[in-house]
Amino acid sequence: MIKTNIYQPLQNNTFSTLFIGQNLIKLLAVDSTNNFLKSLVSNSEPLPEGTVIMADNQFAGRGQKDSHWHSEPGKNLTFSIYLLPRFLDASQQFKLNMAVSIGLNEALTEYLGPDVRIKWPNDIYYKSKKLGGMLIENVLSGQHLKSSIIGIGLNVNQQQFSPEIEGTACSLNQILQKDVNLIELLAVICSHIESEFLKLKASSGKSLKLNYLNRLYQYGISADYRHGDQVFEGVIRDITESGKLLILQNGREVAYDFKEVEFLH
Ligand code: BTN
Repeated sequence: MIKTNIYQPLQNNTFSTLFIGQNLIKLLAVDSTNNFLKSLVSNSEPLPEGTVIMADNQFAGRGQKDSHWHSEPGKNLTFSIYLLPRFLDASQQFKLNMAVSIGLNEALTEYLGPDVRIKWPNDIYYKSKKLGGMLIENVLSGQHLKSSIIGIGLNVNQQQFSPEIEGTACSLNQILQKDVNLIELLAVICSHIESEFLKLKASSGKSLKLNYLNRLYQYGISADYRHGDQVFEGVIRDITESGKLLILQNGREVAYDFKEVEFLH
């Protein structure tokens, strides 16, 4: 049951998209837009594909690896997109990650230029600092993807971060030295993600990996990584079909899963 005091469906004429963001629900406060969207999907009439839930104040945002996503109320974008990538096989899930990461990267490049990178698997970096991240939650039906919730948190107008992350996080405002209109930025992001999603649907992701690799943070560059207790120098060489990171170290390529390798800055 949605409480009417916490949400306002928007008359949406800022978005020139076909479907992503055409049904835009803006919440004043919510624990997590991903959680909200998930319960909307299970408790209501079929939800239109491309529905976007955004929140001014997301007070219990979830991040990767069971972390929390903190965002200063009213300053940033915290939103979730509902997609139905039923054309993808379960084994091709990483293609969706790549398509959405590329879309977000393209949108931010419009604002910030070419120093915006994708940090594997789907963080967004500006130079060596984190601008935002994604939490993609897929539902499978047999061998196929059934639905996907793409949760995105982006630091936009926040100027100060907590001491633990102040050295590693950044925002558009810090880079551009001015505020950015949140709804306009959301519209640009939705438009780029939609176009990458439709390309993926039409072509099953030919040229997707190359595009992703070209935007990848530390691709082809020697850098330090940690695996368990071991710190090593390596070079990112490729991504496997399932989305593992291939790093060349001591003359051999090793494939790492998401939780198995840490970037050391
Ligand atoms: C990460 O970098 O750890 C991923 C962060 C993802 C945060 C977004 S904010 C909107 C959506 N709702 C959530 O609870 N999490 C995602």
